[in-house]
Amino acid sequence: MISLSVKHAQVLPFVSEDEIRMFEQEIKLHRDHIYNKSGKGSDFLGWVDLPENTGSDLLDRIESDARTIREQSDAVVVVGIGGSYLGARAVIEALSGNFHDRSGGSSGPQVVYAGQHLDEDYLHELLQWLDNRSYSMIVISKSGTTTEPAIAFRLLRRHLEQKVGKDEAARRIFAITDASKGALKKLADARGYTSYTIPDDVGGRYSVLTPVGLLPVAVAGFDVRKLMEGAKRMALHLRDNDTLDGNPAARYAVIRNVLLHKGMSTEIMASYNPAMQYMIEWWKQLFGESEGKEGRGIFPAGVVFTTDLHSMGQYIQEGQRHLFETVLTIGESKHSLSIPEDPDDDDGLNYIAGKRISYVNRMASGGTMLAHVDGGVPNIELVLPELSAAALGELIYFYEMACALSGYMLGVNPFDQPGVEAYKRNMFALLEKPGFEEEGKALKNRL
Ligand code: PA5
Repeated sequence: MISLSVKHAQVLPFVSEDEIRMFEQEIKLHRDHIYNKSGKGSDFLGWVDLPENTGSDLLDRIESDARTIREQSDAVVVVGIGGSYLGARAVIEALSGNFHDRSGGSSGPQVVYAGQHLDEDYLHELLQWLDNRSYSMIVISKSGTTTEPAIAFRLLRRHLEQKVGKDEAARRIFAITDASKGALKKLADARGYTSYTIPDDVGGRYSVLTPVGLLPVAVAGFDVRKLMEGAKRMALHLRDNDTLDGNPAARYAVIRNVLLHKGMSTEIMASYNPAMQYMIEWWKQLFGESEGKEGRGIFPAGVVFTTDLHSMGQYIQEGQRHLFETVLTIGESKHSLSIPEDPDDDDGLNYIAGKRISYVNRMASGGTMLAHVDGGVPNIELVLPELSAAALGELIYFYEMACALSGYMLGVNPFDQPGVEAYKRNMFALLEKPGFEEEGKALKNRL
């Protein structure tokens, strides 16, 4: 039994049940295209079977390397960008406590990130911070040639080699990349890094359930078997249920496309739980890169409430009406904390004394949902009963399948990202990379 549920009562003021049901047959066809590997981008459907096909031997190896890394490090730098970064960070941040101070020892190493942008100050400060720490590195790039992580890795590699020597550095660097291609693969082979392979048929943003996500998550001390069990539960459920009632990924995919047809071209993923901030970032990448092409797609935006009710709340309530919201609700808090009674009641809060903070948060969520619906913003609800590795495994697989189905409904290939190349060409041209000289001159004249 899966624990995640999708509710759409707060969509029905805008869309009738019949309008949703009209897509029952179409979505079955898209499901067939996925399971029979007969749709667009079918070379990149390896993610569909990952939860079932990932063997215990790979998980054993990941857990064993994670133990080694945890024992030898106060800190671990995870180097990567996009699909080679966001999934691991999403799971780690969701499962870590909010003030988790890992400083080595039994609590495990502090996980920090590099290569996810090009900020000089960040990299300088990271190197300084690492000066006094014993650290390891996990470098992740499927192509092995992405500029941001390649630059960060060059800097970090030199830093680590100068600190502990080349041989020890090689023992502390773990590479996750393509089986045969790319500069990172060459480097890993030449320097003898422990390496993992990203399967050819799994694209970056669908790779969190490969070593790309699993090794960093295990290093952070979380249970990758439970994560995979949750994903498998969802995979089997979605495979065995082909109706809109039984298949939450199909239902979510259909509802968002019906809303798009009504002019709601921006989806805001909202959570009342700040630990989900990076899960929302991962979702944004998954849906944005998968659907935004050929002039189509639903623009994925994200907010964390109630924080963002004090920034984005005004627009959502009264701005342009091209929005719908999907509220990702986590049922149970990990801890219990109630508002204390105060004899003076100077702050006027005694009317909620004795109530749990999670109760107040739920009332904020219910009140906001109804206010936004009244303001013209349909609300879909995704409910996870708890924040655990297994629940996140379910959620990840649910999003992946919903994204693939939704992309097929839009008529695009949800597994490629041709548009990402445009900025890279311009950047290489401006940097005067060999082969881009003429383009570089033309661009410089325009800047
Ligand atoms: O989803 C994708 O394919 C991208 O976001 C990539 O993951 C990202 O560009 C990083 O690519 P690579 O892993 O080749 O360094």
